[in-house]
Amino acid sequence: MIQIEPSGAACGAHIRGVDLSSPLSAETAHAIRAAWLAHGVVAFPDQNMSIEDLERFTLVLGPRGEDPYIAPIPGHAHVVEIRREPDEKAPIFAENFHSDWSFLPTPPAATALYGTIIPPQGGDTLFACQYAAWDALPGDMKDRLRGLSGIHSARRGYAKDGFYGEKDRAKGRSMAIRFDDSAMRTRQHPIARVHPETGRTALFVSPGYTIGIEGMSEDESTPLLESLYQHQKKPEFIYRHRWQPGMLLVWDNRCLVHAATGGYEGHRRLLHRITIGERAAPSAAPFAGDAPAAAGVH
Ligand code: SIN
Repeated sequence: MIQIEPSGAACGAHIRGVDLSSPLSAETAHAIRAAWLAHGVVAFPDQNMSIEDLERFTLVLGPRGEDPYIAPIPGHAHVVEIRREPDEKAPIFAENFHSDWSFLPTPPAATALYGTIIPPQGGDTLFACQYAAWDALPGDMKDRLRGLSGIHSARRGYAKDGFYGEKDRAKGRSMAIRFDDSAMRTRQHPIARVHPETGRTALFVSPGYTIGIEGMSEDESTPLLESLYQHQKKPEFIYRHRWQPGMLLVWDNRCLVHAATGGYEGHRRLLHRITIGERAAPSAAPFAGDAPAAAGVH
């Protein structure tokens, strides 16, 4: 029987009482999915997972996601390393709030990240609950945003002149980032995004990947987006995740944004990541899961 311990923050829970190095029963898989949908981001401490275990477990939640711009590890086409070496001078990877690969036509529903080498301090990951961020917006702002689409692009990060582009390579980053011209593409998604499984509305923009608003000039969209970026990371929406080696974390990109943090200079940090796509036919109706509603993502 799994135990679910909510973080007490706007999102996040720890799940104990399950061994992810073995196949799961349908009942346990259902309970994990329900907890993940209810809490947005769930951590499984004290696991001992191989790459194959990570591959098997993530298929329980959904199909493989698409992973541009980071080369996979040899022999595992969907597994990438989030790596930083003790003496690395390049800026911390993914320090801006973002929802993973939101510039894709169908962004990944979820991301799974397994802590392989975790520094003794620092390197926390911040999550901001975007259901709570949406709910807290004033009514006139919600009315203004409904029906608007954000323009998402990878260009700020992964274009040749982007943050992880040509100049970044010279800084000696250890991660296998592969910038390319496809980063210039754009894709629109609703700013008020209705979650396909819970039916709840989440704010879906981020400074990482949102570059404008459809039908608005830059002069008009920039201050609006900047105010949303400030709003979406208010302390009351944040869960600060502290890592341990052997911990698996799975988050929902449809209702959270997240950001990496530093503070572990002189130490190696290595995590293995798989993105998880949308299921073929997500239920149009809210998910009737069995997680306690009161302890869910607010
Ligand atoms: C990521 O955004 O996938 C990386 C998060 C982290 O390194 O904490």
